[in-house]
Amino acid sequence: METKLQYQPLDKIEADAVAVVLFEGEPAPSELKFAYGWLDVLRESGEFSSKANELATLHQPSTLRAKRLVAVGAGKRDSFDLRKTVSTAVRALKEKGVKKLAWWLNGSDPEAAVEGAVLGNFEPDQYKTADQGKSLELFCAVAATNGADLDGAFERGRILAESQNFTRELANEPANRLTPLMLADRARAMAEECGLEYEALDQDRMRQLGMGALLGVAQGSIEPPALIIVRYKPESAPKSGDHLALVGKGVTFDTGGVSIKPAEGMEKMKYDMAGGAAVLGAMRAISKLKPSIPVTAFVPTVENMVGGRAQRPGDIVKSFDGKTVEVLNTDAEGRLILIDAITYAKRQGCTHLVDAATLTGAIVVALGHVNVGAFTNNEALLGRVMAAARAEGEKMWHMPLDDDYKELLKSAFADLANIGGRWGGAVSAAWFLREFAGDTPWVHLDIAGTAWLDDARPYMAKGPTGVCVRTFTKLAMGW
Ligand code: BES
Ligand code: ZN
Ligand code: ZN
Repeated sequence: METKLQYQPLDKIEADAVAVVLFEGEPAPSELKFAYGWLDVLRESGEFSSKANELATLHQPSTLRAKRLVAVGAGKRDSFDLRKTVSTAVRALKEKGVKKLAWWLNGSDPEAAVEGAVLGNFEPDQYKTADQGKSLELFCAVAATNGADLDGAFERGRILAESQNFTRELANEPANRLTPLMLADRARAMAEECGLEYEALDQDRMRQLGMGALLGVAQGSIEPPALIIVRYKPESAPKSGDHLALVGKGVTFDTGGVSIKPAEGMEKMKYDMAGGAAVLGAMRAISKLKPSIPVTAFVPTVENMVGGRAQRPGDIVKSFDGKTVEVLNTDAEGRLILIDAITYAKRQGCTHLVDAATLTGAIVVALGHVNVGAFTNNEALLGRVMAAARAEGEKMWHMPLDDDYKELLKSAFADLANIGGRWGGAVSAAWFLREFAGDTPWVHLDIAGTAWLDDARPYMAKGPTGVCVRTFTKLAMGW
């Protein structure tokens, strides 16, 4: 889809439809005077009361060049979410065959508007050879005049949302079309296109280094693992010496291993690399928006399979950090690959760690599909992450990590067990990672419940959401 920002009065816009936002309990803007009669009739009919996500279409509006005038309900002004309003309207209008949509900004933020359009236009239907959904070809945000830097904001929004869609495409890839090495290839192609440094540690190199936790998970699959590394370096490094690491879980398929998962719903475990995909999408955006802090992405990627070589419950592996781990459940594999990546990031000189992982079913039980679970050993870093998330409209909830939970991970035969028992599963998983983050400021984001939508929402298609891409980028930009 092409996107652009134009400076034009309402009546000069040429498009299949021009959308205008109407708030509940407020009169329509005076520019819509020509349509007041229509709006009055609409409101009296009860068909349209400007509640959030209501749409009403007037064809061949007199005095406009556009073919349709679409009134978009926005609800009350204080609970208005422009990004969601635009994406909801886009999803409804593309289905009606609108190809060229103009959005009358009327003073609102072009960044959120274009984000909504690009996100709303995404459908995970690339493998359908028939019945592909309809889509917009052009989204044009329209402002009266260029006030504050509208072009810059529009460009930022486009980059953020396109990067989020890049992540959604990756997360939706089935495991036969995205093995660990294919994920590495996709990361390399993105890095080359974006002028980022790319490197990947292969199995031999990881053996030399002693990444026993990651390799233990990988050994059950014929697909070799990798540790993908993508580096962004600002033109002039900040005096602070800060270096941000983004670490993302990259399990291209999670059968559970020998502690195998039930068949029902297992197909969804293709999105067990959504954390890694989010980190890569953020790097794409970061390469274009150029924050002043160095950022390095680390994506440990493996396939968690059953097979003659697979690790067994009770196996003891030695992590890159040196601590030994008793693998009591082979389905708790994400934490095993992440700890070796976290240790590697620290040894590379990263001063702040933020990871995203579809880590536990327990976080889905706790927070459902609404909030990301956020854990930390450093309140200040968490504060930065939460502020970035709030600014970008991504919901996150601060989860506890008291010392009391730590003892859940005791093992009779090794330094740590990889599971903590039935209760508080998202917390014990986070504690496991914390043991390896040590004193380095670290935030862990459990996105098992938020990286995938089982049912479409009015503002978003069913499937991959691309959560965390905007938060990570904003975090780096605001450093
Ligand atoms: N990939 C899963 C977590 C998951 C669950 C992601 C649901 C997305 C949706 C993870 O590797 C896993 O299997 N975790 C186990 C841990 C348990 C064995 C301690 C879980 O949550 O059941
Ligand atoms: Zn698992
Ligand atoms: Zn997993």
